[in-house]
Amino acid sequence: MDSNKRPESMARITTTELANAFIDEQVALVREQVGDKKVLLALSGGVDSSVVAALLIKAIGKQLVCVHVNHGLMRKGESENVIEVFQNGLDANLIYVDATDRFLDKLVDVADPETKRKIIGNEFVYLFAEEARKLADDVDFLAQGTIYPDIIESKGVKAHHNVGGLPEDLHFGLVEPIKLLYKDEVRVVGRALGLPSEMVDRQPFPGPGLGVRCLGAITRDRLHALREADAILREEFDKSGLSSHVWQYFIAVPDMKSVGVRDGKRYEGWPAIIRAVNTTDAMTATIEEIPYTVLNTITARITAEVEGINRVLYDLTPKPTGTIEWE
Ligand code: XMP
Repeated sequence: MDSNKRPESMARITTTELANAFIDEQVALVREQVGDKKVLLALSGGVDSSVVAALLIKAIGKQLVCVHVNHGLMRKGESENVIEVFQNGLDANLIYVDATDRFLDKLVDVADPETKRKIIGNEFVYLFAEEARKLADDVDFLAQGTIYPDIIESKGVKAHHNVGGLPEDLHFGLVEPIKLLYKDEVRVVGRALGLPSEMVDRQPFPGPGLGVRCLGAITRDRLHALREADAILREEFDKSGLSSHVWQYFIAVPDMKSVGVRDGKRYEGWPAIIRAVNTTDAMTATIEEIPYTVLNTITARITAEVEGINRVLYDLTPKPTGTIEWE
């Protein structure tokens, strides 16, 4: 039987009971597969890797070694949240790598979006491989948050080929406990495992993170302004209830300044661009109609609280002709 094919008899996991049955089954399978060996996992804090981490902690506890690489392009509070939930909450064996300087130094003066993506992706694999190599004598397995759409989209190519691929000298057995699940099922399983809603219901976040929202060549001051403005947007979306139904929402900050005025003085600043879209498959997207009062509150807060930003714009462009991200 092809283990990468979801059996037709497999029921859709829609309830906590079904999720618990799935979890029990996977816990037993993982224990059988790995025995007393150690398993390595790159834990980004996204839904899939978080659910795999929680599942494996339940199955094998400290035999799981999680590596969280902070590329310095996370949203505000995200790495802290990973540490809080997994290290403090679930007592995970977690290695935290703060690689902010390495990533940002590599990205100095790099304005082309695809080059930025490539640098971020390559650096990520390089750093993770470095950690893996340090542990290679001790670790036999690599866990991955592959899910069923990854397998379908790669048309039968083994899922780990898409996930950045480790160098040839590192050989690990693969542990992929959620590879037959659809995204909605992953969320049900995550909830049943007790993961917090901000992790399980997290909106999609691109691998290169804020790197593709700090438009053009990234600078630390503009990245900081973007992160703070984005945190305000998320807070106000939570308060107004928009976060529960808008598919993806974020701030982009372009590499340009305009003249403004603050405290009676000329104040040159960047604009913060609000993007809030709805979609089912990310191939096309429509614009969320944000109420004016919410837009006003967001504008007032960002311009008052975020150093370097003097205007707030609202992007009304659907996809097409815009893409969801600006880069
Ligand atoms: P676009 O901008 O192409 O985005 O309309 C569609 C969806 O893909 C996400 N996205 C990415 N995800 N790495 C990712 O993991 C990337 O480089 C990347 N670029 C865009 C985007 O956030 C949206 O959900």
